Amino acid sequence: MRLAVIGCGYVGLVTGGCLGYAGHEVVATDVDAGRIAMLQAGKLPIYEPGLEVVVEKATKAGRLRFTGDAAEAILASDAIFICVGTPPLESGAADLSAIDNVARQIAAASRSPKLVIEKSTVPAQTGAQLQRALDVYGRRGEATFRVASNPEFLREGTAVADFFHPDRIVVGVEGADAERQLREIYKPILEGTFSCPIHDGHCPAVAAPVFMVTTIASAELIKHASNSFLGLKISYANVIADLCERLGANVEEVTRAVGLDPRIGPQFLSAGLGFGGFCLPKDIQAFLHLAEGLGVNFRLLREAEIVNQRRVDQFLDKVRRALWVVKDKQVGALGLAFKPNTDDIRFAPGIEVVRRMDAEGAIVCASDPVAIERARLALQGTGVKLMPDPYDVARGAEALLLLTEWREYRDLDWERIHAQMARPLVLDGRNMLSRDKMRAIGFEYHSFGRPDVHSKVSLGSH
Ligand code: UGA
Repeated sequence: MRLAVIGCGYVGLVTGGCLGYAGHEVVATDVDAGRIAMLQAGKLPIYEPGLEVVVEKATKAGRLRFTGDAAEAILASDAIFICVGTPPLESGAADLSAIDNVARQIAAASRSPKLVIEKSTVPAQTGAQLQRALDVYGRRGEATFRVASNPEFLREGTAVADFFHPDRIVVGVEGADAERQLREIYKPILEGTFSCPIHDGHCPAVAAPVFMVTTIASAELIKHASNSFLGLKISYANVIADLCERLGANVEEVTRAVGLDPRIGPQFLSAGLGFGGFCLPKDIQAFLHLAEGLGVNFRLLREAEIVNQRRVDQFLDKVRRALWVVKDKQVGALGLAFKPNTDDIRFAPGIEVVRRMDAEGAIVCASDPVAIERARLALQGTGVKLMPDPYDVARGAEALLLLTEWREYRDLDWERIHAQMARPLVLDGRNMLSRDKMRAIGFEYHSFGRPDVHSKVSLGSH
């Protein structure tokens, strides 16, 4: 099919790249001319494992191209994916101005019927507004518009694998034509007729995705309901970790056993610094805003958000308790991205921690395998020193903070780090290392919800 993708961020690039790779003809566009120039030169503006190969192959096969001219992309397509940002406003509501702009562009440029697909995360009822805007601004008689909602569930860091092996594809439509077109778009994924760029012929045995057809309002709600539930789960695990600290229990044992119940499931129960990134925090805020506006009491979700906001404070308390005086102490920080395998630092707890340590007068050296350049911009005006080598970060430090659970950090030579530090103190904000191993090496080691096995009831000193 001839597809346009408007917005070349994480969602747009993965959607456009993968659909081109899977055999459709895709034209992708963005208002950021610099971004388009980069993409035209074969460079990706983001780090996402597997995406480079996908984009390169799709481009070489002539099935993916980039243009700064949105009208050109719109004219060249039958279906248009809207993948623009919906950042939070001060009020917590999603800012839908980019969607509104795109609707006007599509309405003005179209000369033939179009299926307009919301891929960006939007609050329920946006589809109806989008349909209205397209109808109002469209040239009468020349083009007709059908709106569909097709929420994206991919995770940064595993986005390409998620795209090719989704557990569900949700399409919110009105009418059989839109459903038929969306089935056609996802046919390669539904029938498994693509050569997987990630697993090289050895894809894990997973069930075929469920293709779920719903109303547009349900599809919009499904996306917010999913992300909010993930946030609830994480905050729940974090409160359990707080209890474990006070009771001398181990949160890993508790959540592992709890997660073995298939009604609960093992994922998203890792305690630590809490959730960040550009999706969960903002989607929860937008969902809360929507619920409150409709008079629906959703304090349950509000509480999950509050628990999450406290995680960084709790971590900093642990650092202060362990270091005693923070001012003028050299502190190393490993991990700035909001999670591993991405260079995304938006709403990253790690960035917040180093910023606040710096503000308290610590001498902060920080590293990340791929997010240093982005962090440099975000940390402008602070004294945080960024260095690529984690061993340089540890050298001479009086405390080492683990802020993102990159595999590289798990595999460091911890004996060497022990020898290099001024004081062998590690605070693990992601529970990524073995407490017993770290203590055997000689570290003073603190994490979340994992006090000493035989400790008496403790009052949160871990
Ligand atoms: C999230 C959802 O997982 C995707 O399904 C969704 O498509 C996406 O938002 C989106 O709306 O676009 P993402 O933001 O990429 O994906 O990251 P997650 O893997 O969900 O992680 C979010 C945060 O939760 C990270 O900071 C991570 O460190 C934290 N987390 C995750 C925990 O603290 N504990 C856990 O057990 C799991």
